[in-house]
Amino acid sequence: MKNNLEEKFLENGYVILNNVIDKNLIKKSKSIIASSLNNHTNKKKLKNESLEKLFYDVRKKYSQHEVQVFLAKSLVNNNIIQNILLQDKVHKAISNLLGNDLEFATQFELAINVKNVNDEYLVKKYHQEFWSGVGINTLLLWVPINLKNKMGTIEVIKESHKWGHIPHQNREPITLPADSKKIIVKADEGSLVLMSAFTIHKTVPNILSEPRIAIPLTVRNFYYPTTGNEDMWSFEKYNYSFYTKFRKILGNPNFSPYRTFNSKRKDFFSKEKILGK
Ligand SMILES: [Fe+2]
Repeated sequence: MKNNLEEKFLENGYVILNNVIDKNLIKKSKSIIASSLNNHTNKKKLKNESLEKLFYDVRKKYSQHEVQVFLAKSLVNNNIIQNILLQDKVHKAISNLLGNDLEFATQFELAINVKNVNDEYLVKKYHQEFWSGVGINTLLLWVPINLKNKMGTIEVIKESHKWGHIPHQNREPITLPADSKKIIVKADEGSLVLMSAFTIHKTVPNILSEPRIAIPLTVRNFYYPTTGNEDMWSFEKYNYSFYTKFRKILGNPNFSPYRTFNSKRKDFFSKEKILGK
């Protein structure tokens, strides 16, 4: 059977999935971000304060790196990342490419860009995620949460994933082919970009003062051998195949006979294990 997504991805090194995240989930993500920003200001809870105002208020007190980290944590803690990854079309695409035993890296930071900021940590030059330890067994997702016209997105170099590990110094390629196919990704809230660890990409600056906010995610099949530094990172499993579910039912690698025979606990996957509680 023809697999368009896989073919496109293998051909180009990236795929844009449009309209794959429910509007309410985007809305909920924004409200969690707003409330987390609000909690980090000295002010008492403000209703309907704009993300822009909250962001600049918080930046008076915290570095942008700190803000990006605590916001990412708030999304993980509120199950937003799991919910995004389990949106029907998102999950279908990822499991199509990686299978069903999936986990995402939990220690990351949001990518926030506003105008007139040129710091190269925030406005990244051309790079491959492989340089930062992401293996080729891993998928990268760029999920815009607050994105309007003129805010810019990311730029990718089409087909660059087939060039292998690009020589680099001080986090930038030593050279790039003159005829590289540079594409500025067209994405909206509700869409996302999938990339490989070898796909060369960079940040497109935001020319507005309103922050562009995106979630960069790292997803892998936890049975695939790592080809990067993933063994050093924390991951959270969010989907199991039949094989893994069966392993969990059996409970241990010795397959203890009758381990659960006559047990009153029926649900092997819920944290709430004792019925009638
Ligand atoms: Fe990147």
